[in-house]
Amino acid sequence: MKKTDYAVKKLISEIENKDILEVACGRAEFSDSASNYAHSVSCIDLDDSKLICPKQENIHFEIMDASRMRYSDKTFDTVFLYNALSHVSSQWGAIKKECRRVLKPHGSIYIIGTWKIDITLMKDLFGDQAKWNGKFLIARIP
Ligand SMILES: C[S@@+](CC[C@H](N)C(=O)[O-])C[C@H]1O[C@@H](n2cnc3c(N)ncnc32)[C@H](O)[C@@H]1O
Repeated sequence: MKKTDYAVKKLISEIENKDILEVACGRAEFSDSASNYAHSVSCIDLDDSKLICPKQENIHFEIMDASRMRYSDKTFDTVFLYNALSHVSSQWGAIKKECRRVLKPHGSIYIIGTWKIDITLMKDLFGDQAKWNGKFLIARIP
């Protein structure tokens, strides 16, 4: 299993049969893993240069700035940021606001980190909200 398959298993109740979004997806490996369970997976990044070819028909990739998303309000059940927080830290305020806008009521944002740089930042930003689950540091942002 890929590392992202394990991450998806940790959060399966927030993914299975849901409409989910991964922001700053890069290669979109997390989205690829999640697509085995989700109803639909949308994933966005500023460019598609690192994108691996999504295998499943339920993945929809778009070039989009996460701080200015084109999605309608209340579109997704869950929003994920996987190993990307340090890359978007200067825009985190605007991105968080946008993530909240596109979430359905009672939806959640999950920040997942495995890299040292993201883990350090997550601990700084989220404190006790960031919890270890196996090899993944996970923060749920309501
Ligand atoms: C560490 S990389 C990829 C992380 C990805 N989740 C992975 O596991 O491969 C971080 C990504 O954030 C993207 N990014 C940075 N700022 C962004 C923004 N404002 N909107 C969307 N993507 C952004 C970069 O283009 C880059 O692909």
